[in-house]
Amino acid sequence: MENIIEVKDLCKTYITNKRQNHVLKNVSFNIRKGEMVGIMGPSGSGKSTLLYSVSGMDKATSGTVTLSGKEITNLSDKEMAAVRLDHMGFIFQQMYMMKNLTVLDNIILPAVQSKKLGETRSETEARGEELMKKLGIIDTADKDINEVSGGQLQRACIARSMINKPEIIFADEPTGALNRTSSNEVMDELVKINNDGATIMLVTHDAKVAARCTRVLYIVDGNIQGEYELGSQTDGEAELKKRERDLTNWLMEMGW
Ligand SMILES: Nc1ncnc2c1ncn2[C@@H]1O[C@H](COP(=O)(O)OP(=O)(O)O)[C@@H](O)[C@H]1O
Ligand SMILES: [Mg+2]
Repeated sequence: MENIIEVKDLCKTYITNKRQNHVLKNVSFNIRKGEMVGIMGPSGSGKSTLLYSVSGMDKATSGTVTLSGKEITNLSDKEMAAVRLDHMGFIFQQMYMMKNLTVLDNIILPAVQSKKLGETRSETEARGEELMKKLGIIDTADKDINEVSGGQLQRACIARSMINKPEIIFADEPTGALNRTSSNEVMDELVKINNDGATIMLVTHDAKVAARCTRVLYIVDGNIQGEYELGSQTDGEAELKKRERDLTNWLMEMGW
C-alpha cells in the first residue's frame, strides 16, 4: 500500500524560560493508506506533540512531513489551514464544539467552511444526518451540545472529523474522558470507519484502545523506540483479547 504520510527527521523544540526542550528528536516513520496507527508512550514523551507536528496544527522545528506525496511542512499558515480543513479530520479528548450550535450544525461546520465538496447547505445537512445515523446519534441532531452525554459527544466528534471526507484522521486520546463502555463504543466506530478505508493516527495511553489499531508505535523521550504490527482489523472477542495480551506483553518489554 502507498504511504499517505511520510515523516522524516522531524524535530520539535520548545523554548520555555530561555531553556530549550527538545521534545521530538529526529522522528521518522510512514503511515500507509488504510492503516490505523496507535501512538503510545509514557506521559510527557511527546505523543501529542508528534500528532500536532505531523498534522500541521503546530509548526515543526525541522524535518519534513508529506501528505499523499506533497510536502506540507513548507506551507504558509493559511495554506496549512486549508489542507487541514479539506484533507484531515481531528478528534480530541475534550472536543471543542461550539456551544451555541446544535450537534448537527457542529458536525457540518467544517463542510460549511470548506469549498472542497461544492455542495448546497441541504446536501451537506443530509450527509451530516447520514453520518449521525451511522454513528447511532441521529436522535441528538437538534440538541444543544450540553444536552448530550460524553459518549454521544465523542461520536459527534467522529462524525465531524469525517464530514469533509478527509484522507486521514488524527485523534489525541479520543477515549480519554470516557468510561469503558463508551470507550468501547467509540472505538467500535473508529474501527468501522477504518474498515471503510479511513486512515487513522491515534494517540492513546490505553492498551485496550491501542489493541484495536493495526500497528502501534512506542515513543520514549521524543524517539520512536519500537513498533508492533497488529495486523488488519478483527472483531472476534477471543481474537481481540489475544491482541490485547500480545500488545501488553510487548509494551512491558518496551518498559511501559
Ligand atoms: N505548547 C508547549 N509549550 C512548551 N512545552 C510544551 C508544549 N506542549 C508540550 N510541551 C512539552 O513537551 C513535552 C511533551 O509533551 P506532550 O507531547 O504533551 O506529551 P504526551 O502527549 O506524550 O504526554 C512535555 O515536556 C511538555 O511539557
Ligand atoms: Mg498528550
